[in-house]
Amino acid sequence: MVASGCGGTGRELSAYAGPEGLDGLDFVTRSITLDARSGARGPRVAEVPGGLVSAVGLPNPGLEHFLATELPWLVRAGVRVVVSIAGATMGEYADLAGRLGRAPGVVGLEVNVGAPDETSDGLYEVREPYHAASVVAAVRREFASDRPVLAKLRPDVSRVVEGARACHEAGATAVVVGNAVPAALPDGRPGGLSGPALAPIALRCVAAVSRALPAVPVIGCGGVHDVDSARAYLAAGATSVQVGTAMLHDPTTVARLRASLDQPPHQEDA
Ligand SMILES: Cc1cc2nc3c(=O)[nH]c(=O)nc-3n(C[C@H](O)[C@H](O)[C@H](O)COP(=O)(O)O)c2cc1C
Repeated sequence: MVASGCGGTGRELSAYAGPEGLDGLDFVTRSITLDARSGARGPRVAEVPGGLVSAVGLPNPGLEHFLATELPWLVRAGVRVVVSIAGATMGEYADLAGRLGRAPGVVGLEVNVGAPDETSDGLYEVREPYHAASVVAAVRREFASDRPVLAKLRPDVSRVVEGARACHEAGATAVVVGNAVPAALPDGRPGGLSGPALAPIALRCVAAVSRALPAVPVIGCGGVHDVDSARAYLAAGATSVQVGTAMLHDPTTVARLRASLDQPPHQEDA
């Protein structure tokens, strides 16, 4: 799957998608909020050895615009759309879930309860696992029970199992482990570290959740950039993986990895 915020709205990827276009691509949108957000002031990203520190501030056009223009475009292109949502209050999360639940073409929701710096982004603060679980429960109540709700957690090695358990009990179909880890831009502003440098931490979290909660599907996310890094998550118990930062380097990464993972190991080329 394309990880949230790393494939634009999807249109940007169409130039790179080859003859089959975006048909069948599993795509998580950037986090959508009720109202439009212009995002953080620049510079928003800094490359560091092995990764990227970013503080984008969740720029997005807001729910109305997303429903009117971006979602129909993605659905027409054949994309399987999982909408990532973020809110300042529990009520906002519920509102987003209810309205997206009535929109045609939404395959599932991903609830962003693991942003690296939610307070400076004006989001509901998730300090404890029960905060995350309350958000998931509010979303689940408003979203059809036959469609998946993914809870996206932060890769916090000391709390991730608790968080995953609480979210699953609150109705999450699966957990995404995880978001970028809290870090700082070179000028000291808060941001999140992503890319290969994050992989060993997120992998440890995925392994811990899979071991402790074998019935909970786990989607690995953090530093996936080639077949080996994807396979490491699958071997640790993940059912699938998301690719974020690597899409910024090469927007064909998800399509290439999917094709390679479908083949027996000796035929892989990625
Ligand atoms: C530029 C950028 C924008 C992002 N935007 C979002 C977002 O809107 N919502 C979200 O839940 N995660 C967002 N993320 C986090 C990614 O989806 C992903 O969880 C994280 O970067 C770790 O995966 P990676 O190492 O493959 O990038 C963003 C990451 C980057 C680098």
